[in-house]
Amino acid sequence: MSKYKGSFPPTYQDRVGMWPQHSFLTENSKELADFLDGHELLKDGINIFEIGSGGCRNLKYIHDKNNNVNLFASDLHKEASLRNTHESIKDKVIFYGIDTLTLISEHEPEEDIDIFISSDHLMHIDKESVIEIIDNLKTKWKPKYILFRELYSLEGQEIGRRWPRVYHEHNLEDVYDLIDTKSCKNNPNWYNLRLHKLKG
Ligand SMILES: C[S@@+](CC[C@H](N)C(=O)[O-])C[C@H]1O[C@@H](n2cnc3c(N)ncnc32)[C@H](O)[C@@H]1O
Repeated sequence: MSKYKGSFPPTYQDRVGMWPQHSFLTENSKELADFLDGHELLKDGINIFEIGSGGCRNLKYIHDKNNNVNLFASDLHKEASLRNTHESIKDKVIFYGIDTLTLISEHEPEEDIDIFISSDHLMHIDKESVIEIIDNLKTKWKPKYILFRELYSLEGQEIGRRWPRVYHEHNLEDVYDLIDTKSCKNNPNWYNLRLHKLKG
């Protein structure tokens, strides 16, 4: 079980859902959806899974680009997350209320995943748990593409705050090729978008 789980109660979803407390979160989601769309990855019928999705804001803007995609999401509190999810995808997204480490290490996806997303999420999980999450992702889940919008610089790390912000070495390179990176408009020194493709 991830160490900092207790820092994210159901009420946290009202800050980070579809109608977030800070408007830059909406800009981040639009930027993420544009990035995927720019790579022409949002094809009909694909399966997209976002861990730590909160109210699925990223998935909503992706769905606006192509509504003929299948959406899967997970976060700690299903009800609070779905309360903060846009009507257009609320009944469509298959949502799992579960800790990410438990999800990835104890379960396997029912469908092959085309695009797997983590945005501002793994950075809120402790180092040991993320090592285990990445290992299981590479060996068991094996999505075709992985998109991270996470801290890429140690400069942004701050473990002692209420919502710890952790820098991780993602170490995907033995199984995935890094095919593109883009620095984020908000806080470009800390965050970037990193798109990986399964080798072979
Ligand atoms: C900063 S929000 C990001 C939400 C969304 N991904 C975005 O891009 O705006 C971090 C999310 O991670 C979730 N979270 C934190 N620790 C978690 C854990 N151990 N397992 C699952 N979700 C977790 C929180 O509940 C929250 O929804």
